[in-house]
Amino acid sequence: MNILCLAALSFLQLHLCSAVSMNIFKSYGTAPEYAIILIPAKDIPGSSYKPLADALVKQSNQTLMVVVLDDQPTILQMPLAFAKALSQVIVNGHKGNVFLAAHGDGGQVVAAFGILPSRYIEGIVLFSSYLIRGSRLNAYPHPILTISGDLDGITRITRIVDTFEELQGDVAQNPNQKFRSPVIVMKGVNYGQFASKANITYDLNPEVSQADAFGIIFNYTYAFMVVTQNGPNKNIAAAKAVLEKGYINTETLLQPLSEVKSLDQNLEQVSHWTITAQQLIINSITPISVEFVNHEITEASKRQHHKHNFRVLDDLKINSTTKIVFTNNPADEGILPQSPTQLTATMTSQDAVKKLTTSSQFGNPSTCQDINQEAVNFAYSKSSSTAQRRYQTAMAPIMFMNDVNASTFDQWNKASLQLIYNNTGLFVGATRFRTNKPNSDQSIGEQDDCTLLSPYRAMEWIYIDALRYTKPQITKRIS
Ligand SMILES: *[C@@H]1O[C@H](CO)[C@@H](O)[C@H](O)[C@H]1NC(C)=O
Ligand SMILES: *[C@@H]1O[C@H](CO)[C@@H](O)[C@H](O)[C@H]1NC(C)=O
Ligand SMILES: *[C@@H]1O[C@H](CO)[C@@H](O)[C@H](O)[C@H]1NC(C)=O
Ligand SMILES: *[C@@H]1O[C@H](CO)[C@@H](O)[C@H](O)[C@H]1NC(C)=O
Ligand SMILES: *[C@@H]1O[C@H](CO)[C@@H](O)[C@H](O)[C@H]1NC(C)=O
Ligand SMILES: *[C@@H]1O[C@H](CO)[C@@H](O)[C@H](O)[C@H]1NC(C)=O
Repeated sequence: MNILCLAALSFLQLHLCSAVSMNIFKSYGTAPEYAIILIPAKDIPGSSYKPLADALVKQSNQTLMVVVLDDQPTILQMPLAFAKALSQVIVNGHKGNVFLAAHGDGGQVVAAFGILPSRYIEGIVLFSSYLIRGSRLNAYPHPILTISGDLDGITRITRIVDTFEELQGDVAQNPNQKFRSPVIVMKGVNYGQFASKANITYDLNPEVSQADAFGIIFNYTYAFMVVTQNGPNKNIAAAKAVLEKGYINTETLLQPLSEVKSLDQNLEQVSHWTITAQQLIINSITPISVEFVNHEITEASKRQHHKHNFRVLDDLKINSTTKIVFTNNPADEGILPQSPTQLTATMTSQDAVKKLTTSSQFGNPSTCQDINQEAVNFAYSKSSSTAQRRYQTAMAPIMFMNDVNASTFDQWNKASLQLIYNNTGLFVGATRFRTNKPNSDQSIGEQDDCTLLSPYRAMEWIYIDALRYTKPQITKRIS
């Protein structure tokens, strides 16, 4: 912020200053080395962050001061709120470079404000938050720490998976990004623990004590501040080791989710899960030498859909196509499910394959329901032992309704996988379309099509939604 801007702010302050008030947590005696300005989440009062601020100041041995705003400013109020908080920091003897932190949806306000040039901001700290799509970690003007818990019911771990994968890509180019834009998921911590607020609607029950949560939050946040400030009398190597450990722990924690996600979301645009489903439909008891080919179709390529020819061929390629459907989420809200709502899979029927090969024996073709059950078994088998234990304890299983038979391809194509989230569990109902008659235009025929449950959706239920079984589910906006 330049002088002119500050002058303009002090002018604006005349009628806006009453909108900003704050709590100051500081050391007495010596000038603080680090300062954090903390913006609360929208529906949590600033006073709820007092225990966090106290714990951070105490564990820093009074080298840190924290200014907590009482309420979340809008982005328009932000310059003034920041200037006021900054003046408090300077009055208390700090040299005036601050870490701007926020909890939950406050993260979007500070991330947007942090893009504006300011020589007063040293770094950004996102508690239970993330940089929204469109901003890249490696292009962000300041060092930025993204830190949340794996039992966060508001900022889903599946949303953080996307940010961590972005970091992994950055680290492959430049290992230093681990320290400049660390992304850390803490085991056993929830959303409310940043604000000492229990029983937030949709949040999950934590598995570490509040004191331990503060201790872990402090260790990572302090390490980030030390590395960022890079001061002469500090043990930078030790701080880097803390962040390095955080990176490795997070990688381990998120790996099962990333692996299952990549079955259908990958650069080659192949739905590996649809290929499994295709094999279950063909259900050959003896091995057959065919190649399974899948193409994912995007909204753009859907228009040329009719070019695909689904007859099985001489070269023994069995083709399927998959349309991946997601929750409409233009504002990139981390509370909404991040996994596909369905895989709309057009597959080759068993009868078509029987015509190809005389030697094979076949079992009954799997139903869509069978395949979806298989997706749940698969997702469960890939889940961490911790996630499996939590899911078992929650007793909120995934259950299946009978397949609905569509009578025409168009009817099937318009249908969507039913996903009913309630306090009993997740109910899944597929729509199936089978035909052995080629269409008049020969474009499609001999198909066995399903609206498939994405294994990643099943995993998101296992990791997050099932654990809310005693609490309200997000039912209205779930798909
Ligand atoms: C605070 O002081 C204790 C005791 O001297 C020390 O063990 C700890 O590492 C210090 N913490 C920080 C953040 O410097
Ligand atoms: C949160 O809910 C649990 C279980 O329902 C209850 O025992 C506890 O007192 C609640 N805590 C607060 C702070 O409301
Ligand atoms: C934080 O770091 C300190 C020093 O390395 C360590 O003793 C402590 O156990 C850590 N706290 C937590 C909760 O991990
Ligand atoms: C299967 O895909 C291959 C390669 O894209 C294509 O050459 C072939 O015609 C397709 N077969 C059917 C039956 O659609
Ligand atoms: C759907 O079709 C299958 C056979 O293709 C049949 O077994 C099943 O009963 C049908 N379901 C309904 C609801 O009609
Ligand atoms: C949940 O949804 C299923 C499927 O519609 C229904 O059978 C069940 O009764 C519902 N349970 C509750 C508690 O609403």
